[in-house]
Amino acid sequence: MDADLLLRFDEHIGAKGYGNRSEALRDLVRADLVNAHLKRDGLAVATLTLVYDHHVRELSEKLTDMQHDLGEHVVSTLHVHLDHDHCLEVIVLRGPAGLIQSAADRLLATKGVKHGRLVATALPEKSHHHHADEHEHEHGAR
Ligand code: NI
Repeated sequence: MDADLLLRFDEHIGAKGYGNRSEALRDLVRADLVNAHLKRDGLAVATLTLVYDHHVRELSEKLTDMQHDLGEHVVSTLHVHLDHDHCLEVIVLRGPAGLIQSAADRLLATKGVKHGRLVATALPEKSHHHHADEHEHEHGAR
């Protein structure tokens, strides 16, 4: 690798608090694999954070309706009444990456939603079937 590039990389990871180059490379590789998984529309888990003005007409109802339409893809929702005007909502989503992204886009684009961000990560395919596998195994052992 280019010596100048490597020097800049070492400075960058040092500032981030990495002890050595291999730890930083491992995290970069993991992040790249997660991105590839999400682009392939693999299974994902995500948190969507929304800050909205609850005085906007029917906004709370609209956001709740949208979450009901997502069914089992909404795992959990945390609602915080921030101040007199604002609500914070953290929605945990699970499902195909594309579905989660488009749901997040719709929620974020809703009139009255002021800020928001989706943070998604890959959900390994095997953990999706973990329970079924265990169940089969228990039956076989009896
Ligand atoms: Ni509220």
